[in-house]
Amino acid sequence: MRKKISAPGKIEPATPDDLDHILDIERESSPNPWKRSFFEDELTGRLSTILVFKGLKEEGIKGFIIFRKIDDIVEINNIAVCIPERRKGVAASLLSFLKTFAIKESVIEIFLEVRSQNTGAVKLYEKFGFRFSGIRKGYYSNPKDDALMFKIDIN
Ligand SMILES: CC(C)(COP(=O)(O)OP(=O)(O)OC[C@H]1O[C@@H](n2cnc3c(N)ncnc32)[C@H](O)[C@@H]1OP(=O)(O)O)[C@@H](O)C(=O)NCCC(=O)NCCS
Repeated sequence: MRKKISAPGKIEPATPDDLDHILDIERESSPNPWKRSFFEDELTGRLSTILVFKGLKEEGIKGFIIFRKIDDIVEINNIAVCIPERRKGVAASLLSFLKTFAIKESVIEIFLEVRSQNTGAVKLYEKFGFRFSGIRKGYYSNPKDDALMFKIDIN
């Protein structure tokens, strides 16, 4: 699974060597960053995939996405882009890559949850064609927030 995209970079599966850089991005991106062990589990999990977006000139990892495919459903568990590289299409490229993968794998739906206060991420998903599908009141803590559920139908 490796593909060049129109933005200057490439998307490929993460390796254990990528974990330090992924953790740096996670820490600057989330109020409750995942621990290293969470990423290690996703890296080795049979149903999980971590994809990284890398620059062409060895500038390191600019962003990542983590998803699980269970039968014909995909759940996005995490997506983040390092601060200096935001609003340059990195997350959109990762979502496009995932959508192409989902079509090939006969996935019927991709879904996710996002904090209601995370307006940037909500805008990203809406722009990408995800539809609001429900709310989980008080789902998140530190800070307390509702989870908005979004999904997109594939195939
Ligand atoms: C949300 C996040 C992943 C977006 O990554 P990104 O690479 O900057 O997003 P893109 O450049 O691909 O944005 C594509 C479109 O999404 C929307 N968008 C993305 N970030 C936005 C923001 N902060 N405010 C408003 N719209 C935004 C815009 O429509 C954008 O298109 P435009 O730049 O042409 O207007 C990034 O801001 C991030 O890492 N945030 C912290 C982690 C996080 O919140 N993850 C989501 C958890 S559910």
